[in-house]
Amino acid sequence: MVRNRRAKSPNKNSAPAGRKFGAGKAPPKRNEKLSKPNSHKTANHKSAPKKAPQKTSIEKSQIKDWPSANAAQNQPRYQRPAPKGARLRERLPIILETNASSDYALLDSGNGLKLEQYGQYRIVRPEAQALWQPCLSKKQWEDVDAVFTGDVEEEGLGRWHFPKEQLPPTWPMKFDGLDFFGRFTSFRHTGVFPEQASHWHFMQDTIGAKCARDPNAEPPRMLNLFGYTGVASLVAARAGAHVTHVDASKKAIGWARENQELAGLDDAPIRWICDDAMKFCAREIRRGKKYDAIILDPPAFGRGPNGEVWQLFDHLCEQLDMVRELISDRPLFVTLTAYAIRTSFFAMHELMQECFAGLEGELQSGELILREENAPRQLSTSMFSRWLSDETLTLQKGE
Ligand SMILES: C[S@@+](CC[C@H](N)C(=O)[O-])C[C@H]1O[C@@H](n2cnc3c(N)ncnc32)[C@H](O)[C@@H]1O
Repeated sequence: MVRNRRAKSPNKNSAPAGRKFGAGKAPPKRNEKLSKPNSHKTANHKSAPKKAPQKTSIEKSQIKDWPSANAAQNQPRYQRPAPKGARLRERLPIILETNASSDYALLDSGNGLKLEQYGQYRIVRPEAQALWQPCLSKKQWEDVDAVFTGDVEEEGLGRWHFPKEQLPPTWPMKFDGLDFFGRFTSFRHTGVFPEQASHWHFMQDTIGAKCARDPNAEPPRMLNLFGYTGVASLVAARAGAHVTHVDASKKAIGWARENQELAGLDDAPIRWICDDAMKFCAREIRRGKKYDAIILDPPAFGRGPNGEVWQLFDHLCEQLDMVRELISDRPLFVTLTAYAIRTSFFAMHELMQECFAGLEGELQSGELILREENAPRQLSTSMFSRWLSDETLTLQKGE
């Protein structure tokens, strides 16, 4: 079972019920000139050619020129527009919890590792936050199918150790009846972030309820930025949305399409787009495109397909301002998740407050956590902040 647990919310509205589950050296700034195109490697190992600064859709005249940290570093700063209205109603902290299910379980953690069940396989991976002692026996920790060692520089399976037998690179997984692949990737990831199940259930319920309530209306349009292996896109499409999925990595898009085939959703209305998230959004704004639901799960560092640099602390404000411009006039939600960065959900919350000021609806922020199966422990994985339109709040209540 999964629960949404709200710690001391000042707001009386209760959160919707939660569910089961069914990324060295910092790269250069986006606008910085690169003397050696290959001198910086990032998650998707692309070199960065020299580029003109990226244009944004935000008018420079809207700007106040306050002192900024970027000025001290002699770097151009993205100039923010003024907030567009009053602060949103808010609810925080919200802890979205994912408990064990038949397809995924956090079995134990400790000594800087976590022991997880992914479909048919038992897997050990590093987990820096697990400072505590494990509770299962040494024997249970050794009776596993795969261990991420990360001890070689190789791509792919080479960084995994298989104590019982050599395993293929993928295996079948399910989320709420939707089939997709688990994968042994070279960056210790498994092709899926299981705690995202909380968001997937929320999206599925909201989009499903919207389609059921307005069966003759145009289907909701969802934009999934930094979409990775596409499970969120498949869940949304299965629930009735028309989905645009954007990721900079050709490999990740290929994996997402394999997941689409495995899920039997070949004919689902999904556009798979290999592009830089910010460039894509700027283009969609110029074309006047709008979306009813937008989700984004940006990494701390990354690169677009042509070497465009993504750094969360430098680009998130601009990215969110573009997301605001892409919201339709019949919107449902915007969900932002952030992993492994030195900030708090309060910081994400205040940025979202500023970007989405003046809209109706509610801003909810907190953490995504995994509930451990064999100990009374929760493992925090990431922070999130999401804006829900009044219509989504009504759909959530089943009215
Ligand atoms: C943290 S993963 C997203 C995880 C996914 N939301 C999930 O829950 O399964 C980050 C993704 O961002 C992509 N990425 C990195 N830089 C990017 C950029 N500039 N534009 C678009 N996608 C980018 C990476 O290829 C990667 O697939």
